[in-house]
Amino acid sequence: MKGIILAGGAGTRLHPVTLAVSKQLLPVYDKPMIYYPLSVLMLADIRDILIISTAEDQPLFQRLLGDGSDLGLRLTYAVQPEPKGLPEAFIIGADHIGGDSVALILGDNIFYGPGMADYLRESRRDLDGCVLFGYHVSDPERYGVGEVDERGRLVSIEEKPTEPRSNRAITGLYLFDNRAVDIAKNLVPSARGELEITDVIRPYQRSGKARVVDLGQGFAWLDTGTHDSLLDAGQYVQVLERRQGVRIACIEEIALRQGFIDPDACHRRGQALPKTGYGQYVMRIAQRAREEAAR
Ligand code: TTP
Repeated sequence: MKGIILAGGAGTRLHPVTLAVSKQLLPVYDKPMIYYPLSVLMLADIRDILIISTAEDQPLFQRLLGDGSDLGLRLTYAVQPEPKGLPEAFIIGADHIGGDSVALILGDNIFYGPGMADYLRESRRDLDGCVLFGYHVSDPERYGVGEVDERGRLVSIEEKPTEPRSNRAITGLYLFDNRAVDIAKNLVPSARGELEITDVIRPYQRSGKARVVDLGQGFAWLDTGTHDSLLDAGQYVQVLERRQGVRIACIEEIALRQGFIDPDACHRRGQALPKTGYGQYVMRIAQRAREEAAR
């Protein structure tokens, strides 16, 4: 399975902060926002990842993440000139996807919760069509809303409905088989002038091949699109990290745990950030892994 992080967009709700820099490069407490979706793909054991951004921001993402080799990844980059909708990811990324299946994650979506890796592993293994991730929200009219039958199959999906049929928001992580590429290529723009992800999902839904996995209680799916939600997300991460002494979305730790890199490579990444708690944490987990390996 190939991965795509869609990190374009104009970030208009965060102006003037995003006038000069991409939303997905802004800090969410101690690390850039894009670390969070990247860590989700890594947890799904996906190593071949395309990062799509605006042309202006592309060099900045490259400076931050490079070719990914020091994390055991293969990162490549592509440009979306204008935010013409999520399905463009499959058109821009068609060569990257090739004949494979694909996980698309939005660059501003933060997922954190118990069993995330299990959710991803199982969904990948059982992929037959597409898998969406549902999350119970109090304000479903702001999202794509899914209606699901007792077997977890999607029955209907509507984009930002005025009268939502459920409280289940469809989050910004999607697993698709290879058909998504052709479906996306044949879409016509909606009345808003954009390609809509719901139009990619609908053919799967009609043939009973769209499954929804609900992210349960205790799971966090955080929004970062406005000044308040971005600050809230940062504070959420800060509270958890300080209280539990862990790091959320530490890409070095995930790379080490997934076996993408060895403890020495992990330690080198930490050493490059010696003045931060983040860097010290990375060095500590590398040292611990060395000691465990020596036992
Ligand atoms: P949005 O929040 O819909 O758009 P935005 O980030 O540009 O923000 P605003 O509404 O404030 O203008 O996008 C959600 C995510 O998807 C975000 O990470 C940007 C990304 N995106 C693209 O990269 N390309 C697109 O065509 C669209 C629609 C979104």
